[in-house]
Formats: sequence, structure tokens, C-alpha cells
Amino acid sequence: MNRQTNPDITFSSSAGDFHTAWKAPSNIALIKYWGKHGNQFPNNPSLSITLNNAVTITRFHAKKREDKDGISLKYFFDGEQNRAFEERIFSRLNDLLSELPFLKKYAIRAESHNTFPYSAGVASSASSMAAISLFITELEQAETKSSYSENEFYRRASALARQFSGSASRSLFGGWAAWGASEAIPESSDHHAVPLTTSVHSIFENPGVAILVVSSTPKKVSSTRGHRLMDSHPFAEARYKQARNNLLNLLEALETGNFGQFAQIAENEALTLHSLLMTSSSDGLLLKPESLKIMEAIRNFRESTGTPVCFTLDAGPNILLIYPQEAKEKVVSFVQNSLIRFCENERWIDDCMGNGPEKLRY
Ligand code: PMV
Repeated sequence: MNRQTNPDITFSSSAGDFHTAWKAPSNIALIKYWGKHGNQFPNNPSLSITLNNAVTITRFHAKKREDKDGISLKYFFDGEQNRAFEERIFSRLNDLLSELPFLKKYAIRAESHNTFPYSAGVASSASSMAAISLFITELEQAETKSSYSENEFYRRASALARQFSGSASRSLFGGWAAWGASEAIPESSDHHAVPLTTSVHSIFENPGVAILVVSSTPKKVSSTRGHRLMDSHPFAEARYKQARNNLLNLLEALETGNFGQFAQIAENEALTLHSLLMTSSSDGLLLKPESLKIMEAIRNFRESTGTPVCFTLDAGPNILLIYPQEAKEKVVSFVQNSLIRFCENERWIDDCMGNGPEKLRY
């Protein structure tokens, strides 16, 4: 199932300047990437749902310049220059300079906007980094006068995104996306993500995602540090083995449409991530009492009503409900009647699986 919707990659340039705009989605992993080595290679394969509504829209302007000493980058979020983010991208771009020497020829300005609130449980780094990678891939195509096929284009962007933020590599593809080599997933690679092409039952073709915001206070453990802490975690090897097994079983559940099996694995993955966080560092306790209440309520609701709904979490206290579209009405009323009381300002976000990045008119 390749849901990519953007075959028409064209460039806009004037007087050697280059501009483009991309809408790039965030994603939520069901099989978690937690632990890496080398140049941002994952210690186990991961599998995610690309989101539809949680997206970053970025306009890029690369202005030709004489000064070629180093990278010139200005990054704006909602009209304000964001120095912290700029620094992060700047340092990754510097690492990539030998591979992408043309970057020095431009003064780059990015203007970005997220459609979802910061620290809501959805990784804005995945969508932002995916957008940047799409821009760089387009610029690279123009500079090297190469013409990538659609497939090559998104794989190249995914490989770049991986080097900014591992999970961003999956945001280049719509639907289910996998990153990390696995014999069970054709063409999967540690270098870039791929859209899942194995068979997926209709109940998993367009799952709904409800994002419950328990707390929007920024998390204490950065994922960079979290990955590093895995290097000395006593359960690390067992975890990587478990992730590979969980992936195989999840693929089976996706194919057969076995929601019970799917729920068991998805919840196990989320709780394993938090177990690893909690046992890595004293500030890895990110769950809140409300997070636990919500998880318990979801399990009780599933058992007592038979409604196919389960939870997953990112590295934070917020809960994401995953469910087949046919259960939407029941799940939404459950969220509204029983769960939003545990959310910060009763806030939740209604989302679903999306089709991947989209090139916009600049
Ligand atoms: O992409 P990073 O380095 O921020 O790591 C993200 C890791 C998790 O979001 C916790 C899991 C995942 O696979 O997305």
C-alpha cells in the first residue's frame, strides 16, 4: 500500500534563488524505536502510523549568496525566530556539509507552522524534520541536475530525515511506515523508512487516532538522551529482541485483522518504552496519575463493551487511542464522557491515518 500522493515534484526558482513549501505529517510509532548506534541507525525496526491532521507546514526560501564560508539558516516558528531549533538543524546541516556542499551557496530561511499544539503528545520534530529533508532533497535535485524517481526522492528525503531525528524518517510516507531492516518487510532498511507493502486488513487501513493531552509541560528527558541511556541499560538486548518479535506479531495482526492481538502488542510496546525510561534515569518517570487512569479506563472499556480500541504513548504522559474507523462514534463518546476529565483543560485532538507529505504552492 503506497499512499504517496505527490508524484509531481517541480522546482520554483528565480535568479538562482530557490523556494518551495511542504506540508509534512507527524507519526506515532506502534513498534517503538528506542536505542540507536552509529550515524542514527536504529537498534531495532519500528513501525508507525502517519498522522493526517498533525502536520507542519514550512515555506523555504534559499537565496543565492556570495559568502560561502558556512551554513546560513534562519528558522521561524509562527513568525518568531526559534534559536534552539535553528541550532539543532544547523549542527546537523554542518555534519552533512561534505555530502551536501551546495548548502553553503544559499542563505536559507524557513517559516514554519504546526497545526497541533507543542508538547501535546505528537512529535513536532518528526514533521518539521521531514519538511526540512524534503526541501534539501529538492534543492539537491536541482543543484546536481539529477532526476530522482518518486520512490528515490522520498527514500532520499527519508534517509536525510533519519539523520535529523530517527522517527522523522517514517514521516515521509503515508499509511503504515517501517524503518529499520526486517526480513518480514520488503525493502526495509536501517538507512531510510519504507511504506508498508505487506497485506493489511481493512480494519487497519485507515485507523482513527485520538490524542489525549494529559500535560503539555515539555518532557524532561530528551530523546537524544533517552537513546543514549539505552546503551547501558541492563535489559537493552532483551528489548531489541522483544521489539523484533513484537513487529512480527503485529504484522500478523495487521494482516488477519485481529484487533485483540494488535492491542496487546501496541500497549506492551508503549509500556515497555516507559519501563525503559523509568529504569534508565530518575527523571524518566514521565507518566502522570491521569495517564494511568486513562490506560486502565481504556482496557476496562474494551473488555466490558468489546469496542476495538487500544492505547499507545510517545515518550511523555499523553495517551493516543487507536481504533478502526467503524468504532469511531463509540470511541469519541467514550473519550468525551469518560476520559477528557483526566486531560489538561479537557483537551484532546481528533486525528487519523494520513497520506504523507504534500508539496504546496509557495
Ligand atoms: O526520533 P527521536 O530520536 O526523537 O526518537 C523518538 C522515539 C520515540 O518517539 C519514543 C519512538 C518512535 O519510534 O517514534
